[in-house]
Amino acid sequence: MDKYVKTNYERWQELVEVNSRSPFYGLERFKKGGLFLDRLEREGVGDIKGKTLLHLMCHFGMGTLSFARMGAQVTGIDFSPKAIALARSLSKELNLPATFVCSDVYELPLNLEGQFDIVFTSYGVLYFLPDLGPWAKVVAHFLAPDGFFYIVDGHPASQMFDLGGPPPDPELRVTYPYFSREPVRSEESGSYADSEARMKNTVFYKWLHPVSAIINSLISAGLRIENFNEYPFASAPMHNNLVRKDDGFWRLPDGRMDIPFMFSIRARK
Ligand SMILES: C[S@@+](CC[C@H](N)C(=O)[O-])C[C@H]1O[C@@H](n2cnc3c(N)ncnc32)[C@H](O)[C@@H]1O
Repeated sequence: MDKYVKTNYERWQELVEVNSRSPFYGLERFKKGGLFLDRLEREGVGDIKGKTLLHLMCHFGMGTLSFARMGAQVTGIDFSPKAIALARSLSKELNLPATFVCSDVYELPLNLEGQFDIVFTSYGVLYFLPDLGPWAKVVAHFLAPDGFFYIVDGHPASQMFDLGGPPPDPELRVTYPYFSREPVRSEESGSYADSEARMKNTVFYKWLHPVSAIINSLISAGLRIENFNEYPFASAPMHNNLVRKDDGFWRLPDGRMDIPFMFSIRARK
């Protein structure tokens, strides 16, 4: 594992415990029923009853198990053994059939067989991947003929801004490059799911892939882009200036819609 990926890996191992206790994930509430998927994730996959779905970088499986609740035959993969152990125990406890595989996404063809109607990944995934070319090939490898891939994630343009000062700091400061081959170092004492948490592994690295790199990686892997959308709101408080609205998404105050915070792509094999 390269040293940047290893640093991220250690932080993800620690984040499993922090996040699974956070109100953001609401694990105890999830155990009683309901879905841990927002509108864009649900609408992006559509009616999945009876379909096979592969969830890449599934964390501790709440999204994957939500797809199981929606009637799909699900497989979730993540490189964190702690995340996969918790996902497996939730699958058993909640009696929701699911296969969970512990694997680096790049090595998945060595660790998992089969093809899927849907390959899905969401929120906080692409900037943990050093190279999108091999990633897109893995996506294409696991798609059944005519199967589709759906991703919703942070928009590369929004990654240029720092977290902002304590609210109500009105500034969005451009701090990071849009085009960068080297990973960008970030440091946070807490988690995106619990800013008050005090973590041991505070440093992590992000690869800021431009939109063109994301789209071109999928085209080069042989996929046909069916749609690409951009959204002026976020799924999590990725900037201190964002406020949560009734639909659960986080937006800039005063109706400002000048920054794309998320994007989605649907592509078919
Ligand atoms: C932000 S989380 C995904 C969040 C998910 N949508 C959720 O809310 O539960 C990113 C996940 O990617 C995993 N991850 C990071 N790099 C990976 C890699 N190279 N291969 C597989 N999993 C990876 C981490 O362990 C983490 O669980």
